[in-house]
Amino acid sequence: MNAELKWLRVQAWSGAVFSVFLFVHLVNQALAMAGASAYDGAQVSARRVYQAPVLELVLVAVPLLVHVVSAVVQLIRRPKATTPVSWRVRLHRYSGRFLLLVIVGHVVATRGASLLYGTFPGFHGVAFTFQWVPAYFWPYYTALALCGWYHLVHGLSTAGAVLRWPGVSVLQRPRMFKAVVGVGAVALVLGVLSLGGVFVDVGEPASSEYARLVLRLTGSR
Ligand code: HEM
Repeated sequence: MNAELKWLRVQAWSGAVFSVFLFVHLVNQALAMAGASAYDGAQVSARRVYQAPVLELVLVAVPLLVHVVSAVVQLIRRPKATTPVSWRVRLHRYSGRFLLLVIVGHVVATRGASLLYGTFPGFHGVAFTFQWVPAYFWPYYTALALCGWYHLVHGLSTAGAVLRWPGVSVLQRPRMFKAVVGVGAVALVLGVLSLGGVFVDVGEPASSEYARLVLRLTGSR
């Protein structure tokens, strides 16, 4: 097996494992449209699995790290394309680059707060950030959710082909691909709008524990 193919398989395996967490995580964001208790209830239940000591390493941290490293290695080694690349593949690369740029900040801001201070952001913590710096958090969460979803669906369909998983190849059918991307994108936009207080009453998120922590750490109050 040549080196390129080996890295491609590493990329496909690590992405496929991480996609289990990411799928649950993004469904959780879409659930915000059903309100704070639905969002927090689902997160508390899912957290019992994805933040369980060994599982967090196996399902989230290690695959994410391996995926990022192999993406960077391939970015450096990939020869300049001589043939045109489809819009789907281009979108996959752009969304991946955006995620590469923001993922460390996202994990530090969310998991860092619970690991270091025992404070979980939850619905009201996320809702607070929209009110805190709206010009940044509105586009940031919208892009994070949509890039995450597109990268997940396109990545899974590619991993299915690389690893020869017949069940996943259904995503390669153009209609199925568009339908899955479209339905998920609409649900996520509704979820983000809800976290931002458009469809759901978010109350006084600035008095949440997470908001108080952020304001204290940034010296904003
Ligand atoms: C609108 C979109 C998103 C929002 C509002 C959001 C929000 C959150 C929140 C609240 C947490 C803390 C979870 C908990 O305490 O149980 C979290 C953790 C995390 N998020 Fe996101 N997230 C979004 C999208 C994404 C995407 C697209 C990715 C990856 C590409 C991602 C990766 C992670 C990771 C790795 C963690 C830490 C998981 C752990 O080890 O507990 N998130 N996010």
